[in-house]
Amino acid sequence: MKQKLIAGNWKMNGSLAANAALLGGIQHGLAQAFNGRKAQVAVCVPAAYLSQVQQITQGSGIELGSQDVSAQEQGAYTGEISCAMLKDFGVRYAIVGHSERRQYHAETDALVAAKAQRALAAGITPIVCVGETLAEREAGKTEEVVKRQLAAVIHANGHCISEIVVAYEPVWAIGTGKTATPEQAQAVHAVLRAQLKAATEHSDRVQILYGGSMNAANAAELLAQADIDGGLIGGAALKSADFLTIIAAAAR
Ligand code: PGA
Repeated sequence: MKQKLIAGNWKMNGSLAANAALLGGIQHGLAQAFNGRKAQVAVCVPAAYLSQVQQITQGSGIELGSQDVSAQEQGAYTGEISCAMLKDFGVRYAIVGHSERRQYHAETDALVAAKAQRALAAGITPIVCVGETLAEREAGKTEEVVKRQLAAVIHANGHCISEIVVAYEPVWAIGTGKTATPEQAQAVHAVLRAQLKAATEHSDRVQILYGGSMNAANAAELLAQADIDGGLIGGAALKSADFLTIIAAAAR
């Protein structure tokens, strides 16, 4: 059975002092026995702190992720960060298409697909976020929306698609304290799994994470669902005790 992946998405939070304290707490907890049980752990941090977090986490088994990456290789793109730059800091994962980027930075399905393609070519695993808004769910369009978002990435990446991580993040559940029920989440994950299966014979390899107010109290039930292979954690990733509880729930 593949290990589950618990990835923290710190968003635009942190400081040198706060990061050191948070990572210290996580590392201390991870060093305590998980009785041989294992989960993959990553933190997706603001670009400004990649160097700091790389130094702190080196050799700890905590993988480093970015929250975005440029679709361009290099050049006159002010403010953008390239895959090569991320690789300089040992970055293993790049979140692409987070709903906050789609919403506040007008990122399209095509741009998200191009970012995923660029990351894959550089050997960085894109964590491709998909998810419907509340209005879309209420209009019965959840399946259509997530399939359209994932289809763009499948189309651009062909057989490499088995190398991505998918995160299903219903927009109405992000940062709101309203979590999808395990049944609601599993239903969408099953749709995404079927879509991946039609695209690659290695679909079982793809980790499909749930994200959206996953926390210490609800993680175990969500992670017990057949097609939920981990979590993308925002708010609860900023408290070491909560993050550790979620990791423990994944390490079964
Ligand atoms: P949340 O964020 O856990 O705070 O809802 C999840 C995310 O946006 O990745």
